[in-house]
Amino acid sequence: MESIVHRYPDRQAMARAAAAMVAERAAAAVAGCGTCHLALAGGSTPETLYRLLAASPWRETLPWKRMRFFWGDERLVGPDHPDSNFRMAWDAMLRSAPVTAAQLHPVPVAAGAPAEVAVRYGEILEKYARHRCRGQSLLFDLVLLGMGKDGHTASLFPGDRCGLPATATVIAVDGRAASPPLPRVTLTLAALGQCRDVVFLIAGREKTELLERMLADGNLQGYPAGMVRPRGRIDWLLAESE
Ligand code: 6PG
Repeated sequence: MESIVHRYPDRQAMARAAAAMVAERAAAAVAGCGTCHLALAGGSTPETLYRLLAASPWRETLPWKRMRFFWGDERLVGPDHPDSNFRMAWDAMLRSAPVTAAQLHPVPVAAGAPAEVAVRYGEILEKYARHRCRGQSLLFDLVLLGMGKDGHTASLFPGDRCGLPATATVIAVDGRAASPPLPRVTLTLAALGQCRDVVFLIAGREKTELLERMLADGNLQGYPAGMVRPRGRIDWLLAESE
């Protein structure tokens, strides 16, 4: 697995670089496998990127019709709730992108209790995300992730079991200690290991300094963001300023 760090002065520069990276990886996935299965990050950092992708030139150049969209994690609120990761991506990109509802695979938050939602989303991933590409069984061709100030990613938090048993692809997390303190469903490290490439979008000095320490010390095990192991590469995009 390759791990490359890219540093930018601010979020806008990071988002511009991320847009080009997403476009390049999507085109490569479609050229290699006919489709691009993209797992979207939640939180607030990716919003700038999503807005860029829905506008020129990326609106005209991404292979939208060959893409399917998934979510790395979701807060268990309705799709119109301000804390919904689906809503953030919908408002910033998907509502204006040339895609159909059949290409979108949000977490089925209304499916029942958190554990039931996790089971259902796992079934959705097996039905719509699972594919073979270049001889490998994958869920995603590209996963976008953020990182919290504690080194969490998606809704995998330090000290959690990070999705054991190792085979589970989706788990429910109570999320009471998270921000916002909401129950969630998240991809596990096992699911994140069934993707080709990962791009992290990390903004703010506190987070970028933590990430640099994690990589310098090789002390990754204590932080879920440091435990992600895709089949291909990880690009860490760091924006110094908030
Ligand atoms: C979530 C995200 C979470 C997020 C980080 C960074 O649902 O909250 O999956 O992992 O990416 O907490 O969040 P910001 O981008 O808002 O700083």
